[in-house]
Amino acid sequence: MSETSIQKVDTRKNIVCPGGLQETIRYASEYIIQVANECIEKKGSFSIAISGGSTPGPLYQELTKAQNRQRLDWKKAWLFWVDERAVGPADEESNFRNALDNGFSATDIPTTQLFRMVAENNIEKNAQAYDQFLTTELKNEPIDIIILGMGPDGHTASLFPNTQALNETKRKVVANEVPQKKCSRMTMTLPFLNQAKNLMFLVTGKDKSEMLNEVLSDKQGKYPAARIGSANNPALFIVDDGAIMKYQKSKAA
Ligand code: 6PG
Repeated sequence: MSETSIQKVDTRKNIVCPGGLQETIRYASEYIIQVANECIEKKGSFSIAISGGSTPGPLYQELTKAQNRQRLDWKKAWLFWVDERAVGPADEESNFRNALDNGFSATDIPTTQLFRMVAENNIEKNAQAYDQFLTTELKNEPIDIIILGMGPDGHTASLFPNTQALNETKRKVVANEVPQKKCSRMTMTLPFLNQAKNLMFLVTGKDKSEMLNEVLSDKQGKYPAARIGSANNPALFIVDDGAIMKYQKSKAA
């Protein structure tokens, strides 16, 4: 693991900037491999929930490339999705397809340990089924690692600003009407995400710099991404030197 130092943002968030995109992707991959192997050592398996979007593609490729597949026993992985669009598994918008196309199909995760969100039909019924599934499959254990992204509007998972799912206090997974995207999406909820043992964000690129600074300074929970993390379990923002620019400037001011 790089000796890059993790800085405290506030009681619920930490941040680390390993450098450019490549160093940041490598750091994030090493972080996941280390946490996953610690879980395997402790309990013989690890559970991981992954996000979609464009940012994590290079991370998934790094994480699942041949030499890393020898360092992490994917047969011991339980793979969940943080959210899913209302499309089938072959659709190019599908987060499930995004993950498989970015290297997860090369791992030897047993198909019985891959849990796709069926969001293309009966999304509410299937969200309840996924919710129930998480309860039985995880036996009320929290997920070990959750990989999150941050949208340009400060959303994370499919928890968009001013959408109903942000008010969910009990369920792990819900269907969420997203007017901004003119569609519904299936998503893990804030209470469930915040139970995870290791919560990490991957945010890269200078076009995310403004919003990242907003989220890191957001004390009122205006942005969904700012509502991730707790004092017991701070979210780790793994960001590259493009994304951290505005935050660094605001700290220097
Ligand atoms: C999704 C993701 C979503 C993503 C952000 C950032 O389904 O799109 O789960 O939460 O992390 O939208 O997306 P980019 O990485 O494409 O900027």
